[in-house]
Amino acid sequence: MKEIVLNDGNKIPIIGFGTYKATEQEGIEAVKFALKNGYRLLDTAAKYNNEEAVGKGIKLSGVPREEIKVTTKLWRENLSYEEAKSEFETSLQKLQLEYIDLYLIHWPANAKNYDHWQHANAEAWRAMEDLQTEGKIKSIGVSNFWPGHLEALFKTARVLPAINQIEFHPGYWQPAVTAYCKTKNITVQSWSPLGRGAVLENETLKKIAQNHKTTVAKVCLRWVTQHEVIVIPKSTTKERIKENIDIFDFKLTQEEIQQINDIPKLGYSGEHPNVWPDREE
Ligand code: A2P
Repeated sequence: MKEIVLNDGNKIPIIGFGTYKATEQEGIEAVKFALKNGYRLLDTAAKYNNEEAVGKGIKLSGVPREEIKVTTKLWRENLSYEEAKSEFETSLQKLQLEYIDLYLIHWPANAKNYDHWQHANAEAWRAMEDLQTEGKIKSIGVSNFWPGHLEALFKTARVLPAINQIEFHPGYWQPAVTAYCKTKNITVQSWSPLGRGAVLENETLKKIAQNHKTTVAKVCLRWVTQHEVIVIPKSTTKERIKENIDIFDFKLTQEEIQQINDIPKLGYSGEHPNVWPDREE
């Protein structure tokens, strides 16, 4: 499996396994199955309510802990120094782990929900930097941050975020955020690479899939990785869990990548960093 070297020197696989919406029993089985089938990067979050399941799946898989990279996230309503520290400990306990490989701020604080949003992000970040210094986190990063949130964070940050995990799929791939992160050497990770299934019937994607005798899902995932973006597809279906890691038997041409880049807005979640808890259409 191809790995990406992060700006802090740590390496992580270009494909990981997403667990959003997986329930307790489903989550245990899916994580175990994913690890047995070659996944070595797992993605969960305090908000997903399945960290315990992910932890159990890891133990039951028999794969040594040190071979697995585990990501979890600090929820957006807990952005202060103290809460970041205590929420992190709770996640660690639920996952039954000694350390986390990648800890992310799930969403930036925004002006609708915080009196001083910049301060809230900065303080949560300071706690994460301290936890990293203590050895409890290998890499620290953010999620759903736009350049403005990152610029604000840089004013006080001692450590540059290693990762920015954003909504990234055909029909909504945030090219400006992606390009900005590249200039700062922040690796982009894609959430919802299939636009929650909305892209599967797109004609452009279907045609490209036919050219390569493959599926639309694999075309989407390959397109993400050809952007040098890490992808974390989620599925609780065994066949799809296997399909989603088996995407290196074909390569998209530059022309096909461009066609996919140009797909009009499609499958957008409506989740917006400055608008939460509301959604956009
Ligand atoms: P399922 O769990 O039944 O496989 P996204 O990651 O863009 O949010 O999309 C997730 C959705 O896409 C899930 O509902 C998942 O359903 C479905 N999915 C995941 N992998 C595939 C695949 N290879 N082919 C079709 N649908 C998929």
